[in-house]
Amino acid sequence: MAGRKARIIAVVNEKGGVGKTVTVINLGAGLSLNQKEVLIVDMDPQFNATKGVGVNPGEDSPSVYDVIKLPEPVPARSAILKTAWEHLDLLPSHVDLSGIEVELADEPGRENRLKEALAPVLDLYDFILVDTSPSLSILTVNVLALASEILVPCQTQPYSYGALDELLETVSTIKEEINPDIRIMGVLATFFDQRTRVSNNVLESLREDERFQDKLFDTVIRVNTTIAESAYYGKPVVFFRRSSTGAADYLALTEEILT
Ligand SMILES: Nc1ncnc2c1ncn2[C@@H]1O[C@H](COP(=O)(O)OP(=O)(O)OP(=O)(O)O)[C@@H](O)[C@H]1O
Ligand SMILES: [Mg+2]
Repeated sequence: MAGRKARIIAVVNEKGGVGKTVTVINLGAGLSLNQKEVLIVDMDPQFNATKGVGVNPGEDSPSVYDVIKLPEPVPARSAILKTAWEHLDLLPSHVDLSGIEVELADEPGRENRLKEALAPVLDLYDFILVDTSPSLSILTVNVLALASEILVPCQTQPYSYGALDELLETVSTIKEEINPDIRIMGVLATFFDQRTRVSNNVLESLREDERFQDKLFDTVIRVNTTIAESAYYGKPVVFFRRSSTGAADYLALTEEILT
């Protein structure tokens, strides 16, 4: 259906294992359950988001790699797949994506490859959610050049909290040099464990941090083993087990973003 104009949300944190991929998959699923047309773009060569929605990246099937490569990229439309769930599409990743840094090294405008490639499909979706790898490669720069909003998952662990400084610096550099319109939409506390003092302390620090006033989501994502289990089965947790706390938390996040 045409006539939409996608909100483009990049889920970013240079730190690994903080819940980026799980957030992309489950926020995507939550939005699709609310009748929103959603495209998940997997910009991580490890293709965890691709597997997380039940797609096995084929050796030869077109991926986001083919869409941004030069020369002769393929149109985004021909690489986008339907998932098993209504309103939820995927632009899959591929291991070849890891070589793109070198391949595009001498190309002018290489940071805008993804933006150019997705321009023709923006009016097909309400939301485009982009998963990124835990490094500031040309892939992530492409994502930041495209996105209008950034969602930052932050594990409720001291190291993760400390790493937010770096992220804020990256964002202001991108704002100055590549994408003046980008803004931090929100910081999402993840892996919260009520029973541990460290989790509670970090959450309190986030809540008191002046840099994140009005930015910290009220929703907190708790540690929940069903989340990891559902990833193993290639299903978003909101479809895998609706009664889990993982599903409840991600549906609450969806609600918060929609209102
Ligand atoms: N709230 C949670 N409770 C329990 N396990 C979780 C939770 N969130 C994520 N996980 C699990 O923790 C691992 C890391 O999560 P995820 O892959 O989303 O992080 P990431 O930031 O995308 O990592 P990377 O930087 O490597 O891409 C995965 O195995 C995932 O299933
Ligand atoms: Mg990931």
